[in-house]
Amino acid sequence: MEQDLNKIENAYDGMAEEWAEAFSGEHDKKPKDIEILRRFSGIVGKRKPVWDFGCGPGNTAGYLKKLGIEVSGLDLSGKILEQARALYPEIHFQKGNILDLSFDDNSIAGIVAFYAIVHFTEEQVNRAFCEIFRVLKPDGIFLLTYHIGGNTIHLDEFLDRKIDVDFMFFTNDFILNSLKSAGFINIEIIERSPYHGIEYESRRAYVFAVKPL
Ligand SMILES: C[S@@+](CC[C@H](N)C(=O)[O-])C[C@H]1O[C@@H](n2cnc3c(N)ncnc32)[C@H](O)[C@@H]1O
Repeated sequence: MEQDLNKIENAYDGMAEEWAEAFSGEHDKKPKDIEILRRFSGIVGKRKPVWDFGCGPGNTAGYLKKLGIEVSGLDLSGKILEQARALYPEIHFQKGNILDLSFDDNSIAGIVAFYAIVHFTEEQVNRAFCEIFRVLKPDGIFLLTYHIGGNTIHLDEFLDRKIDVDFMFFTNDFILNSLKSAGFINIEIIERSPYHGIEYESRRAYVFAVKPL
């Protein structure tokens, strides 16, 4: 069964303020995030446009902007986008759905998606990767993060707000095969342990993948 997008949107609309307060500026506490985002910005360079998909309150877009990347953000939740616009008024943010993108084929130079697939079933991840592949330009770069594992956690409450969504963990094998099936090449998965006391205690993965020329 697919995760209901209305439930995801309602969850983030309902906890938008709390989420922004809890997670703003979190890259500064995570050295590996910083290393990876610097690497991404080095690869993208002056190429445009660059998008942060599932941007939430704009942490990753904001960090890339600081590194000199012209980046925009896209998210399903209108309320979380209000938080992003307030925190990063210089960045363009717009509402959209990763599973049904309104961008032209071959139109985006670089895409980051930090934990944006966390509520997707495997079928939805497959679809998201095909959509991302479609809109990337040839030689375009995709940077993804996710929680490693094989389980799903259902939460009825988060940050003192009522929600009704599943949080998914994925195996590296599944992600690798899904990216390959979508057409990506040069796929590199980088694992790390959680930063204790700073984030949820799960192993994390960063993935670089390229759309072939
Ligand atoms: C776990 S949060 C991550 C937010 C941000 N990237 C970060 O790392 O702080 C997942 C985000 O993805 C967004 N999202 C979930 N499904 C989406 C979809 N189908 N299209 C666009 N955004 C989506 C949610 O609204 C939420 O803001």
